[in-house]
Amino acid sequence: MAPFVPRTADMRTLDSSPISSDRPAGRRRTPRIGIGGLGYVGLATALGFAEKGLTVTGYDLVDRLRQDLRSGRTNLAEPGVNGLLRRVVGLGRLQIVDSWQSIADDSEVIFLCLPTPRRANGSIDLRPIVRGAQELGKALRSVRGYRLVVVKSTVVPGTTEKTIRPILEKSSGHDARWLGVAANPEFLAEGTMLRDVLRPERIVVGVSAQKDARVLANVYRRFRAPRIVLSPRGAELVKYASNAFLASRVAFTNEISRIAEREGVDVDRVMRAVGLDSRIGRRYLSAGPGFGGSCFEKDVRALVQEVERMRLHPRILEAIVPSNADQTRHAFDLIQSAVGPLRGRTIALLGLSFKAGTDDVRESRALPIVRWAVGKGAQIRLHDPRARANFQRLLGASRARGVNRVRFLPSPIEAVSGADVAVIQAAWPDYLGFPRAWVRKMRRPVVVDLRRALPPSVTSRGDLVCVRLGDGTSQPALRRLA
Ligand code: UGA
Repeated sequence: MAPFVPRTADMRTLDSSPISSDRPAGRRRTPRIGIGGLGYVGLATALGFAEKGLTVTGYDLVDRLRQDLRSGRTNLAEPGVNGLLRRVVGLGRLQIVDSWQSIADDSEVIFLCLPTPRRANGSIDLRPIVRGAQELGKALRSVRGYRLVVVKSTVVPGTTEKTIRPILEKSSGHDARWLGVAANPEFLAEGTMLRDVLRPERIVVGVSAQKDARVLANVYRRFRAPRIVLSPRGAELVKYASNAFLASRVAFTNEISRIAEREGVDVDRVMRAVGLDSRIGRRYLSAGPGFGGSCFEKDVRALVQEVERMRLHPRILEAIVPSNADQTRHAFDLIQSAVGPLRGRTIALLGLSFKAGTDDVRESRALPIVRWAVGKGAQIRLHDPRARANFQRLLGASRARGVNRVRFLPSPIEAVSGADVAVIQAAWPDYLGFPRAWVRKMRRPVVVDLRRALPPSVTSRGDLVCVRLGDGTSQPALRRLA
């Protein structure tokens, strides 16, 4: 079969292409779906397909996770996940199985949703997905009938074709007649995982054969979203370009916020005006202490590594992570300006997750803030409504010096008691009222709002001094305090 190489002219919406219109939708049988790896992405994908009425089989190598999922339980702190999981498991639409063999036997389209963590040099660690592909390949040996394996994990361009396909072909003994390999990146954000999976803004598939494009069009026919068909490399690059672009928007906004502070203006008002230009758009223009989370930094670093390997010089991409680190250092300066020399001072840090709405602390700016503050001799009192346990583990693993000066408190009012300054690192709704009773408990009534989340009804109250990151109009209040 001649390879199908999509060119720009072939990048089309599957809905309107001959690919999906060769048979009436109602009579097509939807393929059975297999999911290998049931972490964030795998579980969300499984739930999304099951909710849309497809039959899904899922496997993860962690026994405990399989047992929990089978009984409809998950510890993912994602809105709606537990209810949907119980429902689709109860309806028999999602079955959790104990081996790759069951996935290979029962599913026609198999999604690989295995982690690709960051290595010390910035590149991604392919070992989990390589092992998964080997296991799946072995299981496919005995299978008769066409199988399409789809890489959903985030992998640098070329990985699906150059690494995953040869592994699958070698370990299964099948070639392209019986085995298709495709890429289909995800764009799920934590906290909105179910919404993103059920109502995606686009579906991007990377295929090397027409037949596989048809199979995926059928898999996704119940999802209403523009569908873009590219080569596997093209689809893989869409994922990196998207995350790098979003990360650069945040880093850019943060640089503007530093200028805004100096100019005595409020970055929010500036960026709101900027974002009204429809060519720019309004989202991802909020200043903060620097982006965190498991994806932005990891993906930007991996892309930079990859591009440098090509001997290209991606100046913009290279600047994103250092610019983000500058912003976190800027947050240190802001705290310092609010509290003076840190030795002997007490800082209440409110919000430990990398953003509100999740218990995920990966790359959270809370960790560098804690390390910096204890390094300077401060006492730190921490609170988070959901991420406390994860942060405790992260802090333990970080071997930060001075952790004996760190205390976790069960409520915000206890955290701010006796504090010289309260710092809002994640904008949990719990903090936004900042009641007078909290202010009365503080040694000094000063808040540094790194997310600019406190509403005017609080900041204009007069019983506290509020320094907002990116808001030059809030700095005179601090000077008055001094
Ligand atoms: C991100 C992308 O948004 C998803 O589309 C992508 O699928 C995902 O990575 C991934 O690759 O798995 P996520 O890491 O959950 O999702 O978080 P975001 O909501 O995008 O926020 C990332 C960081 O940027 C957070 O620390 C957030 O506080 C910060 N941010 C975001 C800002 O500081 N300002 C903004 O305007 C937006």
